[in-house]
Amino acid sequence: MKSASDRTGPAAPARLLARIEALITRAFGAANPFHHLGALTIYAFYIALVTGIYLFIFYRINLEGAWASVQSITHEQWYIGGIMRSLHRYSSDAAMLLIGLHLLRELLRVRLTGPRWFSWVTGMPLIWITVVFGISGYWMVWDELAAWVAVASAELLDVLPIFTDPMSRNFVSNESVSGRLFTLIGFIHLVGLPVILVLAIWFHLLRIRYPRIHPPRQLMFGCLAALLVLSVIMPVTSHPPADLDMMPGSMTIDWFYLLIFPLQSATSPGTVWALCTGATLLLAALPWVLPRRAQPIAEVYLPDCTGCGFCAEDCPYGAIDMVPRTDGRNFALEARVNPALCVSCGICTGSCPSSSPYRKRDPLTTGIEMEHVPLDDFRRAIDQASQEGPADAVLVIGCDHAVDVSRLPGRALHSLSLPCIGMVPPAGIGYAIRQAGYPGVVITGCDSCDCHHRLGDRWIRARIERERQPMLRRRVPRERVLLTGYKAGQQVRLQAEIDAFRLSLEGAEQLQGTSQRRREAS
Ligand code: HEM
Ligand code: SF4
Ligand code: SF4
Repeated sequence: MKSASDRTGPAAPARLLARIEALITRAFGAANPFHHLGALTIYAFYIALVTGIYLFIFYRINLEGAWASVQSITHEQWYIGGIMRSLHRYSSDAAMLLIGLHLLRELLRVRLTGPRWFSWVTGMPLIWITVVFGISGYWMVWDELAAWVAVASAELLDVLPIFTDPMSRNFVSNESVSGRLFTLIGFIHLVGLPVILVLAIWFHLLRIRYPRIHPPRQLMFGCLAALLVLSVIMPVTSHPPADLDMMPGSMTIDWFYLLIFPLQSATSPGTVWALCTGATLLLAALPWVLPRRAQPIAEVYLPDCTGCGFCAEDCPYGAIDMVPRTDGRNFALEARVNPALCVSCGICTGSCPSSSPYRKRDPLTTGIEMEHVPLDDFRRAIDQASQEGPADAVLVIGCDHAVDVSRLPGRALHSLSLPCIGMVPPAGIGYAIRQAGYPGVVITGCDSCDCHHRLGDRWIRARIERERQPMLRRRVPRERVLLTGYKAGQQVRLQAEIDAFRLSLEGAEQLQGTSQRRREAS
């Protein structure tokens, strides 16, 4: 038995990424920051928000007082205000860096085609909003850098047909700078952009069920500690006060946010607009440009659907609605799949209580399943393999996005690959052990907290631990099920864990007992 699904496996860039991330997992374990980039970005915004509120208490939001108040925060109360200021800057930089990594990661893993286009495309405005947020933050200090940023951003805005009078006229001399304009930018930075950002993040996550918006605790502490250390050893300071009548001397700029301005100086505001807009449109078009295999969507089979709603609860992309019954059976609801949202993960099959290989039906049907990986094939594959030697082989169920279990060495296992381990029905585990006589079952998906389909690892764990319906039956010994996860390419480590598992089974004399039973049965 090789594969129940049409396994293509991750593409070369995703495999390379997996190799790099596997090294990081060795150091960080389940707190691998690459598995939590979206949540970490939100965390960076939290730090910027809290430190921003502190700074606002002492900040003077006018041209005359802004620079002096920032100086006072930075130097007079360096032990708290100065650190708050540095944390504010470095957490904002971290947000930008994390957004870049998050984008790159989703791109390399091609999690942007099909129904996932929505999260991808709604990520684009988030980049723009964050950049504008950062740029407007630099105005707030009203030092030489702020003046340079103000002039350059005014020139950028002048390219757009928004204002009747050119914005840059406000910055020809110290006298021409409008205090009201400065206060307006302050208001946009302090109130307008935070509100817009929250709304844009909410929109970005609209199609994601149970989004992970909090990183693991140890990662939160680690990141905060790293930012604190950076703030202490490299405290942020201001340039001399803004003076539009003088050419500023040399300035250090923040490449995370102000990258466009040197480019603008070297080219023109029009070129900057053209490059930024072009890059955004190009990225936004990727979901439709990249090649994509047609994927079958989940299909509901009403004769086996009792309208329990478990599949709708578990679907990671909210692709299932419970609607009034249409077949006259004595149930209030039935499941209905929205094809525009279904990513073909198969997790709903694992959620359905009807997905039980114990049922006598031939062919075996269930309430909801994938046409290319029917439950009947799953049962047949288990039955067939259990009759092929050796009798003490363990059953290894893998996932198409992680280690290719068909390439695991050794005779002492039978392997089967599914689109996601969340697709494994708990009754199927019981069936493999109690009916087909496997001494143990290994379920191996993606690395911890990194399920390609987001929730498969979470749901299967909860079902095996008997915390979520449908649960692993009490009669199935928990110690005979190994649930684990590795990245593509980590065959050796997986094999080592399987070997240790087999040893533990032998220790419990289960291998001997069950292989005996299987020999007797055959
Ligand atoms: C402020 C910036 C951003 C924040 C706070 C953010 C946050 C998040 C979070 C929390 C998730 C859900 C993770 C999960 O539960 O699995 C997510 C998913 C996603 N993000 Fe972002 N994101 C941001 C920017 C972007 C950008 C710029 C892109 C790319 C253009 C992007 C693309 C995606 C995609 C494609 C997914 C869905 C992946 C899937 O289908 O499972 N995000 N984001
Ligand atoms: S296959 Fe996955 S995305 Fe599609 S309906 Fe089932 S759980 Fe939802
Ligand atoms: S889990 Fe199965 S029985 Fe329950 S609503 Fe979904 S398809 Fe119907």
